[in-house]
This record gives sequence, C-alpha cells and structure tokens, in this order.
Amino acid sequence: MLSKENIFQLKLNGGEAVADLVNSYRDIGSIVFILENLGRLPYNFNGNFLYGLLEHSHSQIRLNAVKNIGKLNGKSNIDKLINLYETEKDTSVRREIVSAIGRQRQKDNKKYLYEFLNDDDPKIVCQAIRGLLVFEKDNDVEEHLKPLINHQNEMIRTVIYKEYFSIKKNKNNSFPHTETYEFLKNTIVNADVLEALKYVPDESVHLTFTSPPYYNARDYSIYPSYKAYLEFLSDVFKEVYRITKEGRFFLLNTSPIIVPRISRAHASKRYPIPFDIHPYLIEMGWEFIDDIIWVKPEASVKNRVGGFQQHRKPLGYKPNPVTEYVMVYRKTTEKLLDWNIHQYDNETIFRSKVADGFETTNVWKIDPCFDKIHTAVFPVELCKKVIQYYSYKGDLVFDPFGGSGTVGKTAKSLDRLFFLTEKEANYFEYMKTQKNYNRLIKERETRFLSLDAFKENIK
Ligand SMILES: C[S@@+](CC[C@H](N)C(=O)[O-])C[C@H]1O[C@@H](n2cnc3c(N)ncnc32)[C@H](O)[C@@H]1O
Repeated sequence: MLSKENIFQLKLNGGEAVADLVNSYRDIGSIVFILENLGRLPYNFNGNFLYGLLEHSHSQIRLNAVKNIGKLNGKSNIDKLINLYETEKDTSVRREIVSAIGRQRQKDNKKYLYEFLNDDDPKIVCQAIRGLLVFEKDNDVEEHLKPLINHQNEMIRTVIYKEYFSIKKNKNNSFPHTETYEFLKNTIVNADVLEALKYVPDESVHLTFTSPPYYNARDYSIYPSYKAYLEFLSDVFKEVYRITKEGRFFLLNTSPIIVPRISRAHASKRYPIPFDIHPYLIEMGWEFIDDIIWVKPEASVKNRVGGFQQHRKPLGYKPNPVTEYVMVYRKTTEKLLDWNIHQYDNETIFRSKVADGFETTNVWKIDPCFDKIHTAVFPVELCKKVIQYYSYKGDLVFDPFGGSGTVGKTAKSLDRLFFLTEKEANYFEYMKTQKNYNRLIKERETRFLSLDAFKENIK
C-alpha cells in the first residue's frame, strides 16, 4: 500500500529503494504519487532512475522526474535535461526544465539560461531571467538581460525595467506617502478641472473616484465630437495620473450612453464609453486592476425593452440597461501593494480596517440616487464602499467632476480628507448648502474657493 510515510522511509534508504518501488508500479497515478511525495532529497540520494523517466510517454511523469532531478544538490546531469528541452512538446515540462536548471545556481549553467532567453514562451524567458538574477552584479548576465527591455512581451519588459532601469527614489527627499499639502485639504474649487490641476503638485492625492460628464447626455456636457470628448477625458485623467501617489488607485464610473435619434428616419446611437476610454488610460500608464459592475433595480432605469415586449421580433431586442461600470486602475509602480500599506502606522491600518459585510464579488447591487438639483449624483453607498476599500483614514480623496459633492461629504464622514473641482457655479453653490460640509466642522473647515482664491492659498 503506497503512503507518504512509506515513501519517506524508502527515500532515506537511498535512491535504489525508491527506484524499485517505482518499477513495481505500472499505473501513472501511483508513479506520479511517489514522485510528488519525495520532498527534499537526502544528500547521497542516487537519482539515476529519474533520468530513465525523462523518456516516459506520460508528461506528468516526465514533469515530476525533472522536478526531482532539480533537487539533486547540484549533481544533476544537465545535458539530459537539455536533450529533453530540445524535443519536449509539453509547455509545463519545458518550463520545469528551465526552473530546475535555474535553481541549481551554478555559474556553469549560465550558458543554458542565456539560450532559454530566446524561447518563444514568455514564461520560459521569465524563468531563465529568475535563474540569472541570482548572479548579482555579474556584467555578463547584465549584458544578456538588459536588451530584453525591448522584448515584445510586457511582463518581461516590466521585470527588466524594475531590475535595471527604474530610478530608485531617494526616500529622504520625497514627500511622505501618507501626507498631502495643506492647501488641498477639504478644498472645493469652482473651476475647470484642467485649470485647477495646473496648481496641484505631482503625487499629492491618494485616491480618485469620479463619474465624468456623459457625452452630450446633459446640458453640462456638450462636446463637438465623441473623439473630442474622449480626448478631453484623457487630458483630465493624465493629470489625475500625475497627481496620484505611487501605486494608488483611480476608480472611474461610466456606462455606455445612448444619444437619441434626431427623427424617426434615423437611428439612435450608443457610445461604449468605458471600453473606449480604457485604451487611453492604459496608454498613459494606468494599470487595469478590476471591473466592478454596479447593478441597479430594473424599476429604477429607463424602459427600453417595452417595444420588444410587444413585437418580439429578433434583432429588435433591447434589454434594459441596469449596470454601470466602476473600473479600477492603479498608478504603475514596481512596488507591491504591501509597500503602500506599510507606509501607514499600525494604528491607522487598524482604524481603517473594513468591517464585515463588505462586497465579496465584483457585482455590487446598489439603488441609484436621485437629487432635485443635480441630475447625476453618486449614491452615498457606492462612494462609501469605494472610499473604504481603496483608501486609509487621513488620505486625500479627489473628484475632478465634483457635481453635488457626494465624494467630498462621504470622504469626510469616513475620516478622509477631500479635494474637489466643479466647473458649474450652480453646482458649486449647491455644495455649499449640503449640510455635511457645514456640520461636523471640528478640526478642518471646508474651503469653497474660486480659482483665484485657490491660487492665493497655495503655500
Ligand atoms: C456626472 S456629474 C458628477 C456628479 C457627482 N459624482 C455627484 O455625486 O454629485 C459630472 C460633473 O462634472 C462637472 N464638469 C463637467 N466638465 C467639467 C470640467 N471641465 N471641470 C470641472 N467639472 C466639470 C459637471 O458640471 C457635473 O457636475
């Protein structure tokens, strides 16, 4: 009867005992079980039987044989692995060969790893890079790796950029990650966002959450063309990128929009804004993280399916649009999220922890919100989730298209700071009347500023 304990004992008796055990089985499952459970191999383990298994017809057996050959304490016969690499068709086995050779950390193996850098499989190239990076400050290795900055695969380019080309920031000179500028804190500026952002320094906001004006959907959003509209948004989001702190998030709420037909002789047109703006965002450096779908109750949206309900003719089907997108992007950095988190002290991390009942999927069911003055406001519930999941207490949250100020008041209620810009004077005035801005003025009042007053406030 095969068992892990049994295999463990036989392994200590030497490779021959394990070889006999393998030979006594014919079925693939048992042989794979033995090979998978060999674990760490004793120093004097005789692994000769493993080379015979490299010729086995079943790829799982070849794969596990390669894995164990890689554990033979630098005594592996690399030539046999290379022979297999040259004929092997299974990608997992090929990758394992490269990984096994890399793990040996032998200078003599560099020549093989250099060869693997030319493989068509990006994962093989990445494995070879990993194997070579252990030879720190080795000029020969650098000369082989640096040219990969032009590799066609983006993962490979990113690894090489991080290792050789990124400018390491001087910790002492940079503004602390958790801090921001006084003149931005709890400030609302009545101005075109692009004008206001000219005065905002690089890397000063922790989170941006916004819903842009919709293309020709309401009277505040008339653009000469869809292209001009996308380019305007692109200009704004480039600026958002500049003022966002390293590795921090940008959440963009949009949905496809319909522009009604001009007469019965014409068709209406749908513009897929989330999909059309996405390539611009990637191009300017935002890294795509998630697509959150905000689902509204069917009764709350405009009925488009009514006609179909009557005629039931295929092609004329028009479902009621109950979803909007909240696209999640992160400012590109080679640093992991842990780096961002560790910028905060333990108390802030503890106080910012998200309570039970958080969304566990990317589908969020939230009722829309209707407002007498502003026709397109965020539900507070949506803002709360975004701010709680993507910022820490004390962070600065930005909304370039402030509207009625939902992001501001929600940020404040969650102990975050906010900075908003809003072009329209009537919405700016409306924000002033919102009770949450004027109530709870404990440590920091909300500043409502014209562009000129904002400029004067800069210190
Ligand atoms: C969809 S609404 C945002 C509503 C907001 N999320 C809320 O909860 O109230 C978009 C807002 O962007 C504003 N806006 C449009 N173009 C702007 C620009 N160039 N600069 C600043 N604000 C602008 C509009 O006046 C409108 O209030």
